[in-house]
Amino acid sequence: MRIYKEKDYESVSRKAANLISAQVISKPDSILGLATGTSPLGAYHQLAEWCTKKDVDFSRVISVNLDEYVGLSPDNSESYHYFMEKNFFSKVNIAMENTHVPNGHVSDLEEACKAYDSLIQDLGGIDLQLLGIGSNGHIGFNEPGKSFLLDTHIVQLTESTIKANSRLFSRIDDVPRRAITMGIRNIFQAAKIVLIATGQNKADALYRSFMEPITPEVPASILQLHTNVSIVADEEALKRIP
Ligand code: F6R
Repeated sequence: MRIYKEKDYESVSRKAANLISAQVISKPDSILGLATGTSPLGAYHQLAEWCTKKDVDFSRVISVNLDEYVGLSPDNSESYHYFMEKNFFSKVNIAMENTHVPNGHVSDLEEACKAYDSLIQDLGGIDLQLLGIGSNGHIGFNEPGKSFLLDTHIVQLTESTIKANSRLFSRIDDVPRRAITMGIRNIFQAAKIVLIATGQNKADALYRSFMEPITPEVPASILQLHTNVSIVADEEALKRIP
């Protein structure tokens, strides 16, 4: 595990963008696993800037996103499809047909989960998976539980996640209660993992994930076993890590 300790969100974003562009430059047809949320937003802006300057080229990249709410259509402004389109896909030269976000707006959700696992398998796995981390230690929407759920699955979001995510909705009641998420195996099988964490509300999650025993009660703790994890974080988030 490698820790990049940066002074603030801006330098965290730049470092994460550096790691992602290094991946794309060394393998132009990389399979990138992408995340939504506040953590990767600055990195996406930075990558868009470099792409406009032609310093990095996404034309052959294929992306697979971690997760999506159940019940929101892709054009709903609160959906993760919409987030990705607005903040990244429309800002870089990635081909839209090469972008994939799990589909939570179908009647057969089990089938959508299976289809997403097959997609990742057919692509040959993920070269670099970008992650944020929930303050309860979730990665993707793999919430704390009694066991690690390995494949793409439907999850009941915890109250803490619903509350954290309600900042992006007009009312807490509008936050969907369920989501579709890649499972722990999908994430773990990525060749490289880049996890972004900023702010003191991530300090306990990082401590519990990387300094305490591995447990499904803290889903990110499984990353202790991965051989190529980079944590890109600010001082606040790292304050409990010696
Ligand atoms: C988002 C995702 C989540 C977030 C996590 C942190 O696609 O998978 O696990 O990464 O909830 O969210 P932020 O970055 O908004 O603090």
